[in-house]
Amino acid sequence: MQALEYGCGTGLLGFALQPDLGHLDLADTSPGMLAVLDQKIEATGARNMRTMKLDLTADSLPPESYDLVFSMMAFHHIADIDRLLRSLYALIATRGYLCVADLDAEDGSFHGSGFTGHNGFDRDDLKRRTVAAGFRNVRFSTAFRITKDDSPGQTDFPVFLMVAEK
Ligand SMILES: C[S@@+](CC[C@H](N)C(=O)[O-])C[C@H]1O[C@@H](n2cnc3c(N)ncnc32)[C@H](O)[C@@H]1O
Repeated sequence: MQALEYGCGTGLLGFALQPDLGHLDLADTSPGMLAVLDQKIEATGARNMRTMKLDLTADSLPPESYDLVFSMMAFHHIADIDRLLRSLYALIATRGYLCVADLDAEDGSFHGSGFTGHNGFDRDDLKRRTVAAGFRNVRFSTAFRITKDDSPGQTDFPVFLMVAEK
């Protein structure tokens, strides 16, 4: 499979999946994240990974086509999810997959005050947006939970995995 990790950061998920992929492009808007990732790719000697500075809510679409696009904990940082979903749909090959792991809707305490992104996502609303972008067979499961320590106890933030098909 030709794959794209979008909002890759330093490629935590990409490195886990890379052995099972033909080629993996890793895209992010942060030059700092991509610089760290370039060093990690060089250090591991992985030959099927390439970084890209890319904002699919502002830049023109690259010419590549992907069998699989995946993204972890990045969508809630991106304001225009509808445009992002349309761009990803255009980049995915027929019968390709989009897999997104991100926060379920929360009360804003995950990032705290001052955060301007999404306070997680309502699954039904995100499904509607994903279908509106053209995807089909959109389904959700709970992938994992992030536990944060806060006084006086702990708060559990569930993370969904959304799988959609073109
Ligand atoms: C919370 S980090 C997650 C990084 C990585 N996926 C992980 O799980 O470790 C969110 C990432 O989204 C990136 N990001 C923010 N806005 C973006 C955009 N419009 N397009 C692509 N990446 C973006 C940030 O630079 C950051 O690396």
